[in-house]
Amino acid sequence: MVSVELGRSEDIGETARAATRFVHIQTFGCQMNVNDTDRILQVLAPHGWAATEDPAQAHLILLNTCSIREKAEQKMLSQLGRLAPLKEYNDELVLGVAGCVAQQEGAALLHKVPYLDLVMGPDHIAELPAMLERMKQGERRIAETELYKRKDFRFVEAEPREETKVSEFVTIMKGCDKVCSYCIVPFTRGREVSKTPEMVLREVEKLVASGAKEITLLGQNVNSYGKDLQSDDMGPLARRVPSFAQLIKQVDALPGVERIRFTTSHPMDAIDDLIALFGTVKSLCEFFHLPVQAGNDRVLEEMRRAYTIESYRETVRKLRAQCPDIALSTDIIVGFPGETDAEFEDTVRLLEEVRYDSIFAFKYSERPGTRAEKLGDTVPEATKKARLAKVLEVQERVTRDKMEAMGGKVVEVLIEGPSQRSAKGVGTNLQMMGRTRQNHIVNVPVPLGDFWSRRWVGKLAAVEITEVKSNTLFGRFI
Ligand code: 5AD
Ligand code: SF4
Repeated sequence: MVSVELGRSEDIGETARAATRFVHIQTFGCQMNVNDTDRILQVLAPHGWAATEDPAQAHLILLNTCSIREKAEQKMLSQLGRLAPLKEYNDELVLGVAGCVAQQEGAALLHKVPYLDLVMGPDHIAELPAMLERMKQGERRIAETELYKRKDFRFVEAEPREETKVSEFVTIMKGCDKVCSYCIVPFTRGREVSKTPEMVLREVEKLVASGAKEITLLGQNVNSYGKDLQSDDMGPLARRVPSFAQLIKQVDALPGVERIRFTTSHPMDAIDDLIALFGTVKSLCEFFHLPVQAGNDRVLEEMRRAYTIESYRETVRKLRAQCPDIALSTDIIVGFPGETDAEFEDTVRLLEEVRYDSIFAFKYSERPGTRAEKLGDTVPEATKKARLAKVLEVQERVTRDKMEAMGGKVVEVLIEGPSQRSAKGVGTNLQMMGRTRQNHIVNVPVPLGDFWSRRWVGKLAAVEITEVKSNTLFGRFI
């Protein structure tokens, strides 16, 4: 999971000229939060708000927070401390916390942090303008963190932003009905609620019309898409709800969608109709993020993951039989309560056996209110640290082997924009960056004219991999 900091500079277009107030948002955590930040900016825009990267210029500062691990939460608190002095210079400044920490802590956060004005759970984004209006009318401090029941929850339908990217995310559902014992998400994001297929398709169409080529369908557990809509109380709508696999086909059928990805899936629900799409639905990329968390059955049972290593292996076998060049990635937690050295070694063995293309590995972090909290945080920090280092080291070797094997191959790359180094003006070689269908990043040098004209952006290009250097692929257009 990456930590992203967003904050869009005030715009030079109409919105900014009409704007009377500036909002500065810092986004932590997962893509869902990144997406929520876009929705927050979207609901504020018609009320005269424009985004700014400069907190000192802002009338509203929001930290869109993550609470998946304790470290993410601490980061948010220290960031709040850094921003607090701004209130001394601007007594109109509204300082707020949104996202998962807001949901988890609720009004208590206002007591904990005396200079905080606003606590807004993720279900309340649409109400933000009304909350700000209440403050204008004199209300001092507001906390809105009720988790809406499914029937009361409304998505904010996404509108494309001005700078639509080549690769965009579309939220298809929120929440999670699984009961993984370590995980706080079911508490911070509530039960699963799916967008109607009509809304999903409309959002994809709008993004494609404004320049997107690759769409990642986003949810905590996308394989469950539509199950909540199929329940009896949804009446006639229930009959029209596609399964997740059917939804992918509907998105694929929209003109202009070049690539589809999705994240995240629970291995239990990676069922045959979804597996069958790989290699058959043209725009569906050969990439599957399939979080295993641990390689040992006892640990998985304590984690309440509802699968065994053998059934997980079977899913991997089926996927590779269906689509031999599918790339796989996973999430690993090390140091779950009670995890012995031998149990941990099972995780290492699994990594060596499956040979993922990439992994995200985390030290277990005890989360308040979860089932696993009752087990105690029994694995010492030093052991967690050593286990994390071990899985990363094992994976490093696998990743290197896999990347080296790509040398000389010709791959399809969707060019997204300047490479990170070129965007920062580092190095003399101007490079564009793109991704293969298997999600590998490839940097391709281009002549000065092509770089500035951006003529490659959004193009699907055949690229020969010419060099593999410290886990980065370099290529040339052919
Ligand atoms: N401690 C450590 N890692 C966690 N994750 C979720 N909850 C925790 C926790 N309490 C990891 C899981 C999940 C990923 C998004 O974050 O691996 O798949
Ligand atoms: Fe958390 Fe498990 Fe749901 Fe993923 S599937 S969000 S790990 S409860």
